[in-house]
Amino acid sequence: MNKQALELTVENMMSKPKGILAMDESSPTCGKRFAAINVEDSENNRRRYRELIVTSPDLSNYVSGAILYDETFHQKMSNGEFFRDYLNSIGILPGIKVDTGAKDFSNHPNEKITEGLDGLRERLENYALLGAKFCKWRAVITINEGIPSEACMLANAHALARYASLCQENNLVPIVEPEVLINGEHSIEVCDTVTRATLKCLFEQLDLFNIYYEGSILKPSMVISGDKNKKRADVNTVAEMTINCLKEMCPQTLGGIAFLSGGQTDEESTSHLNKMNKDNSDLPWRVTFSYARAIQQSALNIWVGKDSNIKEAQLMLSGRAKLCSAASVGEL
Ligand code: G3H
Repeated sequence: MNKQALELTVENMMSKPKGILAMDESSPTCGKRFAAINVEDSENNRRRYRELIVTSPDLSNYVSGAILYDETFHQKMSNGEFFRDYLNSIGILPGIKVDTGAKDFSNHPNEKITEGLDGLRERLENYALLGAKFCKWRAVITINEGIPSEACMLANAHALARYASLCQENNLVPIVEPEVLINGEHSIEVCDTVTRATLKCLFEQLDLFNIYYEGSILKPSMVISGDKNKKRADVNTVAEMTINCLKEMCPQTLGGIAFLSGGQTDEESTSHLNKMNKDNSDLPWRVTFSYARAIQQSALNIWVGKDSNIKEAQLMLSGRAKLCSAASVGEL
């Protein structure tokens, strides 16, 4: 492990006023997003859409890194240039999602375990050789009657630690993503309890595996009411409870924190992040975004597969990235 190289990548990824763009939807997930706007799910359409994203004006002013899916990482743009090389050329670090998805967790109804450890070392060696600087692995924790189980939190945290260890062996910064899903009627207090338990378990495993925190980034969900809760907590409460939770559960030496949007509205995702940064100038780590839907969705809805809509969709995407960037320094 080259600690200096990892720290340098973290420094670049966490540079102000930027965040990370997640554009690593697996082909099946991308297919679902396309189906909703009646666009055929083909390799060419996925390329067209991703090209729209990365060529949006001024993107590199707001985004320091982009998480790609394997297909995009090896794909060429219409001008014959690899996406990963184009991103590098405009000052955006290319990263790669390396888990192979959240699958049903045996003997644990309604819970998921993320897979992808088999052969990971070899895949990472190859990604590093081709210029990837960081990776992402997403674990999913579901809140419902009697869940999450300890087994689910532990199995996912263990996998995240093994993944992070292999990343650092290859001088790739691991983005460690334990997502507590927003889906459900639960209160913000329940989300807080589950998020704390998840992070406790995660950092015990990361400690056990000697993960170098300065060379790692946490991608958590916010502490937030379930999407079907009738009395959802307001912006101030979400910001305060999220920051308190992170301050109490995360090591100060962590390289940085970049939230997922997790189904929040565009407006929620920016106002929560903005409030956290506005009210807390003394945090031990940078707190920024690593959004997918909260940056992409409105643009996707404008594009609907038509070349004639590309310019307008790109303006929307850049506009969303700009707002997220302002929120990441509390200047919204
Ligand atoms: O793994 C999840 C994505 O990287 C973040 O997606 O912002 O739509 O929750 P999201």
